Formats: sequence, C-alpha cells, structure tokens
Amino acid sequence: MSHSSTELALKSLTGWWDDMGVDVDHAALAALEKVRGPAREPQMAPKMGHTDAPAKSRRRGRKTLQDWIAEAESLARDAQTLDALKLAIEGFEGCPLKEGANKTVVFDGVQGAPVMVIGEGAGGREDRIGRPFVGKAGELLDKMLAAIALDRKTNTFITNVTYWRPPGNRNPTDEELAVCRPFVDRMIELNAPKFILAVGGVSAQSLLHTKTGIMKLRGGWTDYTTPSGFGAPMLATFHPAYLLRRPEDKSRAWRDLLALQARLDGDAGSAAGSA
Ligand code: URA
Repeated sequence: MSHSSTELALKSLTGWWDDMGVDVDHAALAALEKVRGPAREPQMAPKMGHTDAPAKSRRRGRKTLQDWIAEAESLARDAQTLDALKLAIEGFEGCPLKEGANKTVVFDGVQGAPVMVIGEGAGGREDRIGRPFVGKAGELLDKMLAAIALDRKTNTFITNVTYWRPPGNRNPTDEELAVCRPFVDRMIELNAPKFILAVGGVSAQSLLHTKTGIMKLRGGWTDYTTPSGFGAPMLATFHPAYLLRRPEDKSRAWRDLLALQARLDGDAGSAAGSA
C-alpha cells in the first residue's frame, strides 16, 4: 500500500472507530506513523485516554473527590452568567473524564429558553465538535423536539449531566457525575427553564438521585429543586440513542413529548390569562 493510501485507510478506519464509540488516539497514531515511516503498516490501537493524560493527571494533583466537588461548587456559585459558567467548566480539572476527551461539551441552544433538555454526555461527534447532541442521537432529538415546536434556535437549551466524553462511550461513574453536579445545578439556575426534559436513564437517575430504571421513570414528572432553591417541573423520557436501537418505543417517547407540550401550552395559556 502506498503511504497516502495507507493514510486514507487509517483515516477511514479510525473515523469509523470514533463513530462506533471506540476512542482513537490520533496523536499517538501520528507519532507512530512518523517513527515507522511510509513503508511499514502502522500498528493501531484503540486508546483509553489521550497522550497528554499524564500531564492532565498531574494537574489534578492529590485533591480528593470532595475537594474537587467543593471547587466545582465554588466556581459554579461565582458564575453569574451561562457564558461565565461555560468558561469555568472548560477550565475545571476535577473530572477524570477530561483526561480522555478532545473537547469540553457544555451547552447549545437558547440561553433562558423555557425548555432545558439534559442528556448524559458527549459521544464521538460531540467530542470532536464541542457541542451537545450533534451526532445521530442529536439528529433524532432535534426531530423529537420539532414535533412539539421546540428547537435549539428558538426555545430550547441543551446540555448534559457530564461535560466530557466517557472513554468508549461507557456510562459516567457516580464520582464523575458528582463532580459535574454543581455545574449542572448552577446551569439550571442560570437558565431558569420553565420545564426540564431529562433524556435517558443516566440523566434521569442522576438528577433524581435514584437507581430506578428509565422504564419506570419515563413519563413521570418531578419537581426538581437545586440546592439553592430554584425549582422547575422535570419530565423523564427515553434517550434518542436508545430510540434509534428500539424504534418500537418511539410511541412512548411521543406520549412523553405530548405531555410536555400540554404543560407548555397550559403555561402559555395561564400567562396569557393573567396578562
Ligand atoms: N448523548 C447525550 O446524552 N448527550 C450528547 O450530547 C450526545 C449524545
């Protein structure tokens, strides 16, 4: 194989790995290519973490989880706008997920929107682009929202319960969720949504502090209250990635969306009535 066709093959293979949720260490591959030269076949290996992971680990130092949670709480408290909060999250070194991620994925959509969608965390495409829900699941999410006249350009704010892609798209651990949580709560307070839509089991379970499965949680409303006392009704539904695998459950997700629409309409009606 010529050097350029090897490179091309490598690019499509690693791109495919990325899309399938396997972490690819592009920097290590590039270094390997340089050392081995064009004549040999490159050895490729999925990675767990980036090449600068040790440096980042050193930056995380000897602080305990509790220390990092306290730091996240302080940074979150200090942020007075969503943009300031985004900067604080991007600079935060206390979540181990950051070590293996390319980008910090914070939020997308309209700040102050009445509906706040909260997912689980970045996938491959989000990690490359730095915005939540921009992959296949994001495309379905956009369609689901559009069905009830919601979209990220007019009336919806989108974020996750973690801000860095877990390696291999595994679920985030309780510790990773806990250290991101002060930011999640502050983001809810600063966005001040009328309604929260938690998509997927990880998001709903984490926000509700429960191990109950999404099959039981979906369709249910809860009054979500942040530690500082901001409250908003929260509805749990299926994650679009799950619906891509189980399209037969779309009708149940559709019912959830109609319930959200009814609450939004009711809210708009009562606002008009009191005007
Ligand atoms: N899945 C999520 O939960 N969030 C994203 O941002 C992308 C995929």
